[in-house]
Amino acid sequence: MSRLNGTSPSIPTVDIPDHLATQLTTRTATIGIVGLGYVGLPLAMAYAAEGYDVLGIDVSERIVDQLNRGVNHIEDVDDAELARRVDEEAFRAEATYASIGEADVVFVCVPTPVTQHKDPDTTYIEQATAAMARHLRPGQLLILKSTTYPDTTEGVVQPILEKAGAANGLTLGEDYFLAFSPERVDPGNKEYTTATTPVVVGGVTEACTDVAALALEQIVGTVHRVSSPKVAEMEKLLENIFRSVNIALVNELAQLCDRVGGIDIWEVVEAAETKPFGFMKFTPGPGIGGHCIPIDPYYLSWLARKYDFETSFITLAARINEEMPFYVADAVMRAVAHLPVALSDARVLLLGVSFKPNVADTRHSPAERVLQVLRKRGVTNVSYTDPHVPAYKVQVNGSAEELPRLPLTPEVLEQHDVAIVLTDHTAFDYEMIAAHAPMIVDTRNALRDIPCAEDKLVVLGSGSF
Ligand SMILES: NC(=O)c1ccc[n+]([C@@H]2O[C@H](COP(=O)([O-])OP(=O)(O)OC[C@H]3O[C@@H](n4cnc5c(N)ncnc54)[C@H](O)[C@@H]3O)[C@@H](O)[C@H]2O)c1
Repeated sequence: MSRLNGTSPSIPTVDIPDHLATQLTTRTATIGIVGLGYVGLPLAMAYAAEGYDVLGIDVSERIVDQLNRGVNHIEDVDDAELARRVDEEAFRAEATYASIGEADVVFVCVPTPVTQHKDPDTTYIEQATAAMARHLRPGQLLILKSTTYPDTTEGVVQPILEKAGAANGLTLGEDYFLAFSPERVDPGNKEYTTATTPVVVGGVTEACTDVAALALEQIVGTVHRVSSPKVAEMEKLLENIFRSVNIALVNELAQLCDRVGGIDIWEVVEAAETKPFGFMKFTPGPGIGGHCIPIDPYYLSWLARKYDFETSFITLAARINEEMPFYVADAVMRAVAHLPVALSDARVLLLGVSFKPNVADTRHSPAERVLQVLRKRGVTNVSYTDPHVPAYKVQVNGSAEELPRLPLTPEVLEQHDVAIVLTDHTAFDYEMIAAHAPMIVDTRNALRDIPCAEDKLVVLGSGSF
């Protein structure tokens, strides 16, 4: 057994098995990554870059087939790097769990959606754990990375592993290990990468924390240990709910500014930002999107309900944010009312349908809700333009439909009655938009520095909305 120095000296380190420690520090460990999406694939590349053999497992045969041909599907991953890792045989992907027993460390990076009733759906985590349990052997470590409610690691994952462990005479914390370490990847963020973003880890025993921290330290500069998986699970939810609540606050103030008139929320935020302490900038928008912020708060409010506790802040924030697409659609209707065109004939162009700038991710993007509301109110002719999203499938009236995609040109802008800036991609030519769109609804203040006739521009939170 080895004694390892932890990165948080306040928490003592304990013995972990020599062979696993040696495998990790000599890069002879095999790293298994279950779920090869936005979280899993960059993680796989980070370990492969450090010289580990990486086995990726994903239930999507299409993704597995593509990856094994060196074809990348995640923007943050470098195409050439993936192809090189496949060529070097440092990375391979499989669509079944048959080889999971080869992995010394298994990261679980599967989706954690909500059900129709907005309750947590941990079935993907359970499937991945059950598969690992079937192949459990001494010296293995499972690190759950999927965002989830506190007690998932100990209440859902641990019993599945322990049942298998007990059947094989293996003891958790001695023969095999379990920890939770939330993911902080911010797709599209060039400043903070896997290596430069500190991570948090909490194991079910001290030895579990130690061995998980050791595994993470091989690719991350700073690993912060906490006393349990529950603390790490709650910490991740705090991060995301912090964003949800602050976005809701500024969205509410934007609506108030519109109501009052003469106060521009963007100028207010810019002024508040001059305070060097105690304030963090958040900006209004057409709603929240992505796989995390719209979903994760529900994981915590579900847990709270089990304890007869109501998470009022979280619920209120979610409500305000979820109402924003309706607010934006109302502004579009008013903009159309000023034009010599009937609602049913109005042509609307959505500028940007991904949930944030400069990425391709459209999951839970407010664009879909804005479209649904417009359709419901009789605006049938809606198209989109987005340099990052080659095709956009949306649910309208219960069926999937592919929204027409158009290039962003002066002619296309002129052929539409209203252009709505939903996502402020850097690649958009805002001067061209200002010059050629007959009417612009700007939910991101993207045209702030662009000369534009006042009577054809309405900006969220500026009083003109
Ligand atoms: N995307 C982000 O920016 C981000 C950031 C932090 C945390 N997270 C969390 O990380 C987790 C994964 O998110 P993501 O964005 O990478 O999702 P994703 O949809 O991009 O990737 C998940 C992958 O898992 C695969 N999969 C589904 N079920 C599986 C199973 N049973 N076994 C193996 N593979 C399976 C899917 O085919 C998919 O390729 C979620 O809990 C999410 O909340 C995401």
